[in-house]
Amino acid sequence: MSETFFVTTALPYANGPFHIGHIMEYIQADIWVRFERLQGKRVHFVGADDAHGAPIMLKAEAEHITPEQLVARIGAGRARYLEGFHIGFDHWHSTHSPENTALSQDIYRRLKAAGLVYSKPIEQFFDPVKGMFLADRYIKGECPKCHAKDQYGDACEVCGSVYAPTELIAPYSALTGAKPVLKSSEHFFFRLSDARCVAFLHEWLAVAGHVQPQVANKAREWLAGKGEQALGDWDISRDAPYFGIPIPDAPGKFFYVWLDAPIGYLAALKSYFESGKARANGELRSFEDFLTAPDTRQVHFIGKDIIYFHTLFWPAMLHFAGAPYRTPDNVHVHGFITVSGAKMSKSRGTGISPLRYLELGMNPEWLRYYIAAKLNANVEDLDFNPADFLARVNSDLIGKYVNIASRAAPFISRHFGGAIDYPGGTEALTQRAREVLEQVRASYDAREFGRAMREIMAFADRVNQEFDARQPWVLAKDPAQREALQDSCARALYSFKTLTCLLAPVLPAVAERVARELFGLDRALTFADALEPPRRIEPYQHLMTRVDPKQLDALLEPPAEPKPPAAAPAQSAAEAPATLSLDAFKQVDLRVARIAAAEAVAGADKLLKLTLDLGTETRTVFAGIKAAYDPATLVGRLTVMVANLAPRKMKFGLSEGMVLAASGPQGGPFLLSPDAGAVPGMRIS
Ligand code: MSP
Ligand code: ZN
Repeated sequence: MSETFFVTTALPYANGPFHIGHIMEYIQADIWVRFERLQGKRVHFVGADDAHGAPIMLKAEAEHITPEQLVARIGAGRARYLEGFHIGFDHWHSTHSPENTALSQDIYRRLKAAGLVYSKPIEQFFDPVKGMFLADRYIKGECPKCHAKDQYGDACEVCGSVYAPTELIAPYSALTGAKPVLKSSEHFFFRLSDARCVAFLHEWLAVAGHVQPQVANKAREWLAGKGEQALGDWDISRDAPYFGIPIPDAPGKFFYVWLDAPIGYLAALKSYFESGKARANGELRSFEDFLTAPDTRQVHFIGKDIIYFHTLFWPAMLHFAGAPYRTPDNVHVHGFITVSGAKMSKSRGTGISPLRYLELGMNPEWLRYYIAAKLNANVEDLDFNPADFLARVNSDLIGKYVNIASRAAPFISRHFGGAIDYPGGTEALTQRAREVLEQVRASYDAREFGRAMREIMAFADRVNQEFDARQPWVLAKDPAQREALQDSCARALYSFKTLTCLLAPVLPAVAERVARELFGLDRALTFADALEPPRRIEPYQHLMTRVDPKQLDALLEPPAEPKPPAAAPAQSAAEAPATLSLDAFKQVDLRVARIAAAEAVAGADKLLKLTLDLGTETRTVFAGIKAAYDPATLVGRLTVMVANLAPRKMKFGLSEGMVLAASGPQGGPFLLSPDAGAVPGMRIS
C-alpha cells in the first residue's frame, strides 16, 4: 500500500442542524473517500462539530442552557443525516474536547516560541450592560456614508460601504440596545505578515495540487495586498466571557474560534486513534507516527467562503508549529449549492431540507448521483433544479443503469437457472471493461465527478443499445437461438457488474445490494471486480424506483395552508366517453417512443417540437406541453405516442403523430412513460 489519506470536511458550527450545503460537501468528500478505498487505498475520514465562539454562547444563553448542552443536543442529531445519506465518517468529534485544548495550546506555544505571536492593546466597543466586548456583527448604528439606520458594524447593506464600527453614527449594542463604550484590552496576534510566513505561503501555494489554480490566485492576491488591502496580522484572542479554549498564561483570554477550529481536524483524528477505531481500520501506527509518515496525505474539503482560513492561516500555523504537525497536502474547494438558482442563506437555512428529503422517503442515492453528476474540480456553484433532478435520475439511473439488469437478469434466471456462460468469450468484454474503468478512475481521481458520470452513462448506453440490437426477447422464443440468448444476456450482466463497481462510490447501498443479492457475493465490490466476469446470478430483485414528481413538490413547497379540495367537475353525459369496441381501440397504433430532441418553436408559446425515436424511424410531433416542460429535461426519456394518426400540416411544419399526456383540474399536462424495460418502438396494447 502506498499513500494513506487523512480526510476532513469543514467542521460545521454546532449552533444548528445540517443544511443542504453541508450535505453536498459531505457527499463530495464521501464519494472521493469511497473511490480511494475501492482502489485499495487506506483512508481515515473524520469530522467534528465546531463548538466555540460568541454565537453559540449567546444562543445557549437565550435558551437558558449551557453551551455544552447546546452543542451536545446539536451533536446528537448529526447521525440521522450522516447515516441517511450514506456518509461514512470513521469518527465524529468536537472542538470542545480535551484533545483540542491540548493541541491548540501546544501549537500556540510553538508559534510563540518561533516569535510569531505578540500582544498589544486594542480599543474595541464594549457593552456595559452585558459586560462583554462586541464583535462587529453585534453592533448597529447609522451608516456614516448614506445615513441609513440600523446598519451592522462592518458594512452598510443599503449603500454597500465598508467601515469600522467606531465610524457608525449613534452606535448601539444589538444584544442589549445599550450605548457601547470604547475600552482597551490586550489582544494576541499571529504574525501572518512576517516575511517568513509570506515566503512560506508563496512556496506552499506554488506546489501543484495543494490548491486549485483559481484558489491559489485568490490567496496570492491576499498575500500581495497593498495599502488598505495589505495583509494584516491575525487577532487570535478574545476576552471573557467567551466559549472557547483558554490561552496559556493569559487569564481571561481565549483563542478566537477560528484558531482552534481547524486544529479540531487534528483533535478529531487523535480521538479517532485513541478510540481504537483507527486500529480497527487497519492503522497500527500511533497518531504521531501516522502524522509524520512520508506516505501520509492530509486532505481537506471546504467551501469557497472559508478559503482565507485554510490557505493562509492554517498552513502557516502548521508549518511554523513544526513536527509532528504537517501542512495540508490538498485543500479542495467547492462552490455553493443553490436551489432553483436561488442562493440559500447560511443562517436561515432555506433551500431544501435534508431531513425532509429523508422523511419523504426520497432515495438518498438519487441526491448523491445528482450531485456527483453536477460536480467538477472547479470552484463552481451547483444548482439543484427539481425538473433536472427528476429527468437525470430517472433517465440515467433507472432508464440506463438499472434497466440493464432488470431486462437481462430474468432471461438468465428463467432459461439458464441463473448460470452465466459466455459463448462469445470474455476477452473482448474484459478489454472494454478495462478501458472504461481506467477512464472513469482518472475522472474520479481528478474530482471530475460529472465527467465520470457521463462516461459511465455513455457506457450504459452502449450496453443497452447492444442488448436491444440482439433482441433477446425474440431470441428467447426460438430454442435454436439459446446460445445467442445466453451470450447477449451474459454480456449485459458482465457490463452491469462493471457499471456497478464504477458507480459504487456514488451508490454505495445499491452496489452493496447488487453484490450480495444479484451476484451472491458475501462482500462488497471493489474496482478489481469490474474486470471479473460474473458466473451466476440470483433472481433479480427490484433495485430502485423512479423519482415521483409529487415527492419533489412536497420537498420544495413550504407546508401549505390546508386548502379545500378542488371540486370535482360533475361528469355530464356529454363529457363521459362513449363506449368503444375493442376492434375500434385496436385501430390505434400506440408505441413507445424515445424523445430524441425537444425544442421550443419560434412564434408558438404553447408548443414544443419533439423528435421521437420509434426504434426503426423518427417522427416529428408538435406537442402543446411547453408550459409544463423544459425541453432540455425531456431529451432521452421514453413516452407513449399515437403512431398512426393522420399527419397534420401546421403553421410550423408537419406533425406526424401525437404524444399522450394526462391533465385535469389538478394540473398537467403530465406526459406518460412506460416502466423500465420498455424500448422505443414497442407496441402498446
Ligand atoms: N465552522 C466553520 C468551518 C470551520 S473548519 C475548521 C464553518 N461552518 S459552516 O457550518 O458555516 O460551514 C461548513 C461548510 O459548509 C463550509 O465548508 C461551507 O463552505 C459549507 N457551506 C455552507 N453553505 C454552503 C452552500 N450553500 N453550499 C455548499 N457548501 C456550503 O464555516
Ligand atoms: Zn450606507
